[in-house]
Amino acid sequence: MYADMKDKAGPKTAPLADFRSDTVTQPTAGMRAAMAEAAVGDDVYEEDPTVRLLEETLAGLAGKKAALFFPTGTQSNLAALLVHCGRGDEYIAGGDYHVFHDEAGGAAALGGISPFPLATDETGGLTPAQVAAAIKPDDPHCPVSRLLCLENTVSGRVQSLERIDSLAHVARDKGLSVHLDGARVFNAAVALGQPLSRLCAPADSVSICLSKGLGTPVGTVLCGDRDFIRRAMRARKILGGGMRQVGVLAACGLYALERNIARLAEDHARARRLAAGLAAIPGVDVEPAAVETNMVFADPGAGHHGPLQGYLADHGILIGAQVPKIRLVTHMDVDDEAVDMLVGKIQDYFANIARASPAPLSHRS
Ligand SMILES: Cc1ncc(COP(=O)(O)O)c(C=O)c1O
Repeated sequence: MYADMKDKAGPKTAPLADFRSDTVTQPTAGMRAAMAEAAVGDDVYEEDPTVRLLEETLAGLAGKKAALFFPTGTQSNLAALLVHCGRGDEYIAGGDYHVFHDEAGGAAALGGISPFPLATDETGGLTPAQVAAAIKPDDPHCPVSRLLCLENTVSGRVQSLERIDSLAHVARDKGLSVHLDGARVFNAAVALGQPLSRLCAPADSVSICLSKGLGTPVGTVLCGDRDFIRRAMRARKILGGGMRQVGVLAACGLYALERNIARLAEDHARARRLAAGLAAIPGVDVEPAAVETNMVFADPGAGHHGPLQGYLADHGILIGAQVPKIRLVTHMDVDDEAVDMLVGKIQDYFANIARASPAPLSHRS
């Protein structure tokens, strides 16, 4: 019965190429074999050797003393906030950072922690002056500013070492801790040609996803000092994230750390190839110079988002639904051919429109 369903659903529904996110990758045969062979134990009893090895490996790469395996980046970020902050405390973050914008207000809903979002600049960064001004004085009217949350990369933009260092310095100076949402920090490390530990050094805690560019189906690792990670273990338990024979998933992470870090440079090169191709299409507004890792943002012009998305879907290509700039993400499951196919189909879409009514596009070329 299941086999029948699988045969029917498989190739007919699978897209030819999916540019919506780097989270859509399929585990490779090698990764599945690593899962099958993984030694496992009960991780709530701290007895899973493969989880232990993954945590030690990633703590070492990040330059931290300890680490903890989580099912998701959202849970890892929330556990970190619950450890850094108590009820009535405040965290400061970019208003478009995932921890504030895309995690369902978890810190406020579950931790009684107030967010203080700041506007980011065009590179996704905050300024030291902004952060300094956001930190509250010791005044009973104010929440206690306890934590600065940074992100790297931010929508594919690399946050420079100098920027992160200076922001962390301002926070530390005022007694705040620093958490880095490093869901894609390996992309930043590869783009900068720096070791991961250098990018993580300014932060007290770092959340690193394995299920984005590194290509695993599941998994995020939170890194920090031993006391922090011990307390994060209790927070993870509160959040329902204590898992049992989860070495089968940690095995994917170890497999990815061995094989999939350096290859992120290929995704970055493909994103540049995509941006260059799109820049040549009249009607598409894209900034190739802003492509620093694996994300391209392209504006097809008012009224074209839905129709373009539909046209591409009809040709087996999936893209995001963001407005005004559609996000296109390169990853392990798209190759040069897929990139060229996407550019070609977007070209066809605009050529068809131009043939039907030449005027509306001419001002955008
Ligand atoms: C920057 C960033 N942080 C955290 C997350 C959360 O990861 P997860 O989807 O595993 O909860 C994401 C997910 O896309 C992300 O982009």
